[in-house]
Order: sequence, then structure tokens, then C-alpha cells
Amino acid sequence: MVKVLILGANGQIARLATAQLVDAKADLRLFLRNANRLQSEKTGRAEIIDGDAANVADLTQAMAGVDVVYANLAGHNIEQQAKSVVAAMTQTGIKRLIWVSTLGIYDEVPGKFGQWNHQMLDDGYLPTYAAAAKVIETSELDYTIIRPAWLDNKDEVDYELTQKGEAFKGTEVSRKSVATYIVHLINNPSEQVRRSVGINKPNTDGDKPAWY
Ligand SMILES: NC(=O)c1ccc[n+]([C@@H]2O[C@H](COP(=O)([O-])OP(=O)(O)OC[C@H]3O[C@@H](n4cnc5c(N)ncnc54)[C@H](OP(=O)(O)O)[C@@H]3O)[C@@H](O)[C@H]2O)c1
Repeated sequence: MVKVLILGANGQIARLATAQLVDAKADLRLFLRNANRLQSEKTGRAEIIDGDAANVADLTQAMAGVDVVYANLAGHNIEQQAKSVVAAMTQTGIKRLIWVSTLGIYDEVPGKFGQWNHQMLDDGYLPTYAAAAKVIETSELDYTIIRPAWLDNKDEVDYELTQKGEAFKGTEVSRKSVATYIVHLINNPSEQVRRSVGINKPNTDGDKPAWY
């Protein structure tokens, strides 16, 4: 069975993906800061490891015996975290990485929504996420970068994908949709290798997310 390491396992999408993977009896290792925050009734038999994703030593230790790394990280030092993840995976010889990023890192969001997205996210967020994605894309890893639209917590799974080089579609998507797609990739690891994929809810084009 494939062993999956989830980095940033207390993240909102990560917790939804974990629930699906626990139900499917996947072999899981959960990596997060302050690990005592995760409740064992929600994580089944998953191993839980305390660590910082900017710390290469924490990461290499957590990667022993792992086949797929799913990184659900955030923060102003996301580029440093990307560098540490690439270094640790290179050191431990693990190839497959699923990396959650954001829409807009290639200036791929068209029209008024693209302008609004810039206004909302240019102040530090987009440049650092773009730099982190570049670290992943210039590595030798078998990565898939996932670029979600604006996230909501609707209890629905409804999504479509776009590729790097195509205009981003839509404005919003549910975290549950993104989690479901990530679980699909974990179960089908040869899909979307060395690709960067946008994910949005169909028919949500507009000047900004409807709920905003
Ligand atoms: N909000 C939106 O509309 C939107 C749209 C597109 C993309 N995104 C991005 O999509 C990603 C996933 O979304 P989400 O809702 O699941 O995010 P989230 O709930 O903020 O999860 C991110 C996780 O990263 C962890 N983290 C940050 N630095 C870390 C470190 N050094 N070591 C270990 N863990 C660390 C955080 O851990 P702690 O709990 O310890 O802080 C947090 O649990 C985020 O990067 C988000 O910015 C968001």
C-alpha cells in the first residue's frame, strides 16, 4: 500500500483529505506543528508527527518509508518551506509531490476578476506563492501543483481543471472539492506529473466570488 505523508495536516483542506483517506484505510503519516491539536478519533490509525515544514531535518525524519508527499502549507515563508521540502525529498529519494498553491501565480486569471485577485493578493501573498511554485517546478521531483480558486466550505464536490498556459476559469471552489481531487491524485499518482493545475467550480465566472 502507498504511504502518504501530509505536511500541514491541521490545514482545512488537509483535514478533509485526511478524513477521506482514513475512511479508505490509507497508510498515512500526518506532519504538523503542535501535533496534539489533532484528535485521534478523526485520524484513525495514522501516525502523527510534530514538525516544522521549513526544517529539513524534521522533514527528512518524517519522510522515511513514504511514497507520496502532499503539502498543504501556507505562510510568509512558503518559499523557504518549498526549498526545505524539495531538499528533504531529494535527500530521501522520494519523487512524488502534490503541492497546494493558489490561483494567480502566473498572472493567469483573466479580466476583472484577475484585476480584483491582484488587488486582494499582491501584498506579499502572490509573489511568495509564485516563488515557492518556481522552486517546485525547477526541482527534479514528480510534482503536481494545485491552484485552487477562492475557497469556501460548502459541502459539495464540483470542480473542473485548467492547465498552466491556459486562462484560469471561474472564481470559487469548495475545499471539499480540492480535497477530493487531491485524494484522486494520491490514488492515481501517474496523473498530472510535472504539471500545474487550476481547480474551480464550473460556471462561477464573475468579477469576484459570489459569496465575497
Ligand atoms: N483562502 C482561499 O481562498 C485560498 C485560495 C487558493 C489557495 N489558498 C491556499 O491554499 C492552501 C491550503 O488552504 P487551507 O484552507 O487548507 O489552508 P490552511 O487551513 O491555512 O492550512 C495551511 C496549513 O499550513 C500549516 N503551516 C504553515 N507553516 C507551516 C510550517 N512551517 N510547518 C508546518 N505547517 C505549517 C499551517 O499550520 P498551523 O496550523 O500550525 O498554522 C496550516 O495548518 C493555503 O496555502 C492557502 O493560502 C487559499
